Amino acid sequence: MSPPPRVDLHFEPNGTRVRVPPGVTLFDAASWNGIAIDSTCGGHGTCKKCRVKILEGTVPASPLDARAFSPDELRAGWRLACRVQTAADLRVEVPPLVTRPKAATVGVGRQVILRPAAQKRYLELDEPSLADQQTDIERVLAGLDDLELRVELPVLRTVGRVLRAADYKVTAVIVDEVLIAVQPGDTTGKLYGISYDLGTTTVVATLLDLSTGTPLAVASMLSKQQPFGADVITRISSIMMDPAALDRLTGLAHETLRELTADICTQAGVDPADVLEVAIAGNATMTHIALGIDPEPLGVAPFIMSTRHFPEVLAHEVGLAVHPRARAVVFPSFGAYVGGDITAGLLASGMDRDSRTRLFIDIGTNCEIVLGNSEWLLATAAPAGPAFEGAAIRCGMRAADGAIEVVTMTTDGLDLKVIGDAAPAGLCGSGLVDAVASLVGLGLLDPSGRLVSEEQAAQIAPGLAPRLTRLGQERIFVLHWLGEPGHAEQSIYLSQRDIRELQFAKAAIATGWNILLEEAGLQPSDIRQVLLAGSFGSYLSPANAIRLGLVPDLPVLRVVSAGNVAGEGAKMALLSMRERAGALALLEEVRYVELSDRADFNDRFVEQLAFPA
Ligand code: FES
Repeated sequence: MSPPPRVDLHFEPNGTRVRVPPGVTLFDAASWNGIAIDSTCGGHGTCKKCRVKILEGTVPASPLDARAFSPDELRAGWRLACRVQTAADLRVEVPPLVTRPKAATVGVGRQVILRPAAQKRYLELDEPSLADQQTDIERVLAGLDDLELRVELPVLRTVGRVLRAADYKVTAVIVDEVLIAVQPGDTTGKLYGISYDLGTTTVVATLLDLSTGTPLAVASMLSKQQPFGADVITRISSIMMDPAALDRLTGLAHETLRELTADICTQAGVDPADVLEVAIAGNATMTHIALGIDPEPLGVAPFIMSTRHFPEVLAHEVGLAVHPRARAVVFPSFGAYVGGDITAGLLASGMDRDSRTRLFIDIGTNCEIVLGNSEWLLATAAPAGPAFEGAAIRCGMRAADGAIEVVTMTTDGLDLKVIGDAAPAGLCGSGLVDAVASLVGLGLLDPSGRLVSEEQAAQIAPGLAPRLTRLGQERIFVLHWLGEPGHAEQSIYLSQRDIRELQFAKAAIATGWNILLEEAGLQPSDIRQVLLAGSFGSYLSPANAIRLGLVPDLPVLRVVSAGNVAGEGAKMALLSMRERAGALALLEEVRYVELSDRADFNDRFVEQLAFPA
C-alpha cells in the first residue's frame, strides 16, 4: 500500500517543517503541530486574525481574503490561514501573536487549539418592512454570510416566532455546516459538549465547556449491560441465542449514557438542552450495540464489522436527552477487536505525530497493541483473557473499594495497599501483577511460574515462608490472612492456577508486541516509549510490568502510564474539528496484523509463557 500523499509546509520564522494530507487548511496544519496562529474564532473564518504571508508556492485568494486584505497585501501573498486549503508545498511566514488562540491541554500532554464544530453567533437583525421583504431565514443567514449553512426543517418551524418574540436579537446555533437552532437573545455563553468513553465494564462521561475547553463535570458508572455478561463475547452470545436481546442491550446502553448525562449536567448546573454535540469512543462491539447494529459477525471468524466509519447520528438516536438536534460523533474502528476506543487513544497519545517509535498497549480482556511512529503504525489485538479484570482469579475482584491494588514484598514481609477506606476483600489486576512480580523478584516463583518448595522458601525469604502453603492439592501464597490465623481457605491468596492465568495473559500480550516488532524489523531496544493505557494499564507498576515480561525490557522511565486515553481522545474530537479529522485519517495509516491466522502463533505463545529470568 503506498502512503497517502502529503504536502510539505515550511513555517517561518521558527523553521518548522510539517507534512500533511492535501486539503488540510494552513491554520489546522499549524495548530495541529503546535504552531500558534492568531485567532479568536478557532478557524471558523469570522475573526480575520489568522493572517499569514505565503513566501513560496501559490495560493489563490479566497472571497474572505478579498475582504480582509488590500489588493497590495493580497499581491504580497497575505492570506487568512484558515481559508487556505493546502494543495502543494508552501513556505509560510507566521506573524507574532497579537491575541492568544484558545487552547486546552488534553490527551497525553497534547495542546489542542480550540476549534469545536459547534459554535454560536449573536445577531442583532433589522426588522422586516414593506421595503425589506427578506424571508426570516434569509435574514438570519445574511448575518452569517461568511458561512455556507444548511438549514433543517425544525429550525424553519420556529424561526419566525423566535425572531419576533426576541425583537430580532437572536443567537444562531451552528454545528459544522448546519444551522440547528435560532434562540432568543444572547446565549453565546452556553456552549457545551459531552465525551463518553463507552467501555464494556465502565462508562465515563465528561461535560466540557466548548468555548474554553474546560471539563466541568465527570461521572462514571458500571455499564447497565452487565447482566448480559462481563465481556463482549458473552454479550454477543446472548444476542446470538435471543435476537430480542439486541434491543434490550441497546436500550441499556442508552440508559447508561442518559443517566450519566443527567448526573454531569446536574453537577455543573448546565441545562442539557445547551449540549450541542457529543463524542462516543467505544470498542467495536459496544459501539455496534449502542447504535442498534447486530454485533453477531464480530463474535465469530472471520470477525467482520458492519462498517469502520459510522454515519453521522443525532444524539437522541443514542438515547440522549440533550439538544434535540445535537449530533453524536462516533469514533471509527480499525477492526473487530481494535475499536473506536483505540482510535481515540491513538489520537490522544499522538502516536501518528511523533517521530519516536512507541508501543501503545491497552490492557484489558482484549488487549490492543499498536507499534509505530509518524511514518507507520501497526496494530493488533491479543486475547489476554479476564485475569486483569480480576475474573478467573480465585480471590480476584474488580478495582473497587477493598481491592488490593499494590503489593510490595521483602524477604521479611509484605505490604498491601487497598482501594478506599476498606479492609482487603480481594485482589485486582494491578495487585495481581505486583504480587506475581514480587514473588518472581524474590525467587519464590521460578521462571516457569512454579512456586518454590516450602524448604526453599524458608531459606530465601523466612518472613514470607509461612504464607506459602496448600489448599487441598493446590499450592497457594497467602497475601492477607482472614479468619483464624493459618486458615488459608477464607484468606486472600494467590493460587498456582491464578499464576497460570496471569502467565497466559502476559504471553498473549508479549506475543502480540513481539510479532509487531518482527513485522517492523525492529528490536525491543528500538522502542523509545511504552504507553500503558486503559483503566487497568494506567494503574500498573511499570517496573513490575517489565519484570514479568508484559512489556519489553527497557529502562523503566521509558514505560509510562497514559491514563484514560479513550476518553481524552473523545474530548479532543469535540474540541477540535482538526483532531476529529485526524482520527479518521488514522484509519488509513494503521495496518492491522491478524494474530489468529498465524501458523506460528501457538509456538510463539508458548515461548512467552516463562517469566524473564
Ligand atoms: S481563524 Fe478566525 S478567520 Fe481564520
